[in-house]
Amino acid sequence: MDRKKAVELLNKAKEARNGAYAPYSNFYVGAALLCSDGEIYTGANVENVSYGGAICAERVAITNAVAHGHRSFEAIAIVGAPKGQAPTHTCVPCGFCRQVMSEFCASDFKIILADGNDIKEYTLGELLPHAFSSDMLN
Ligand code: THU
Repeated sequence: MDRKKAVELLNKAKEARNGAYAPYSNFYVGAALLCSDGEIYTGANVENVSYGGAICAERVAITNAVAHGHRSFEAIAIVGAPKGQAPTHTCVPCGFCRQVMSEFCASDFKIILADGNDIKEYTLGELLPHAFSSDMLN
């Protein structure tokens, strides 16, 4: 993806990160999901006292977009860091979020991460090879 679009998505993820509710880990994450029609949905992580009830920023963004009728996605930008710190290191999506991405996204879906001033771009196929898929249910 061109750098301008990647920077725009990362900035939206940074903004969304302010909405995190993470009193247990104190780790604030933001995500911005680009739909194929150009719309952008954002999310932040929302934790729970049960711990297991926490939901990652990526899944908040994806479920929000899906609930609004979107089914086709191009890219997601993710930033994360402890509360009050600028996100300077890459924050890779967890395995659970990668699997949820693979429900809706092709293997060329782009995952945009900030690494200091550099931008790192991966594909879902690179981060989740051999995904469990519905073919395997038959
Ligand atoms: N988290 C995310 O929201 N996305 C990631 O990619 C990694 C982890 C959240 C889950 C939990 O609220 C906190 O970060 C610490 O794991």
